[in-house]
Amino acid sequence: MSSSPIAELTARRDELLAAIGSLDDLDALRAAEPSLVGKRSPLAVLQKSLGSLEPDARRDAGALLQEARRDVEAALEARRSVLGAGARAASLDADRLDLGDVVVGAVRWPASAGHPGLVATTQRALEDVFVAMGFTVADGPEVESDWYNFEALNIPPGHPARGLWDTFYVDLAEPETVVLRTHTSPTQIHLMESAVATSTLPIHSVMPGRCYRRDTPDARHLATFHQIEGLVVDRGITFADLAGVIETFTRAFFGPDIDTRLRPGFFPFTEPSAEFEVTCTLCRGEGCRTCSHTGWIELGGCGMLDPAVLEAVGIDGDEWSGFAFGFGIDRCAQMRHEIADMRALIENDVRFLGQFS
Ligand code: PHE
Repeated sequence: MSSSPIAELTARRDELLAAIGSLDDLDALRAAEPSLVGKRSPLAVLQKSLGSLEPDARRDAGALLQEARRDVEAALEARRSVLGAGARAASLDADRLDLGDVVVGAVRWPASAGHPGLVATTQRALEDVFVAMGFTVADGPEVESDWYNFEALNIPPGHPARGLWDTFYVDLAEPETVVLRTHTSPTQIHLMESAVATSTLPIHSVMPGRCYRRDTPDARHLATFHQIEGLVVDRGITFADLAGVIETFTRAFFGPDIDTRLRPGFFPFTEPSAEFEVTCTLCRGEGCRTCSHTGWIELGGCGMLDPAVLEAVGIDGDEWSGFAFGFGIDRCAQMRHEIADMRALIENDVRFLGQFS
């Protein structure tokens, strides 16, 4: 070792630390590693020369050398992890999907934030109208037993009225048939049962939700669609209350230039029953393909609660009376936004969806 082993050690250590700091990538680090900490590294060469020193000086220089080695090894590891993290970030960058643009077919669409679909916003708007009229909003299951979807609604097994609802059967096994609900009316039964169980009559509620029918989609029908059900059970309720609610809702939702009409109809769970229709907004009543040239669009059905339904859920028909209605949310969206073909609602064409953001 030279005349000043300590000065030389410090100089070598600083050179090595500087060399480590200037390594740019992991390949360079791997290539340089043997010359930095290997057998032929400057510190290893220095160690060999320690043997020629006096014992005291050798001990001091040896301790310093160990310290310098540890510094160099620690610096090398630190550099390795910095360069490794950089390499991982770079490879993530290379893999990162560019969501700046969305390519659909041959068309590049500028990305935009998503927004609730038209059916969801229509449902919210309908709920708002009814909440403003004093109704609460309730929810019910989409998979129902035969009892809720049919029997409790005064449609016993084998009754021809079942043909009105093209039903998806989930399970025909005994003891109970299971169906995808064909309308939101079974939620009426759930509400009445729980109001009886908790002694919380009267009921003023609307129940929106998804329904299913074996329908071939066309301009006015979808196999998966949405309804909103209304139910009032109270004392002294008459058909005039029902007609007033329908009229108030349609004016609030569609505006004053859209007319409604109630036509005698039949539903096993209401008596008397009516179908309610609104002026077709596409032709303003003139008649067009969407309204089958009638000038009217059927929104849904309604009527006074049939005594058999009250009896099925254990409500005393002498004390309580009420009405129910149910109509299509998708139809409302269609009429409010003048959509000629309802299938547009499920085609996911961003040119259509983007108009309702
Ligand atoms: N559930 C009926 C349907 O889907 C509509 C309706 C609801 C009729 C409530 C009367 C009372 O067709």
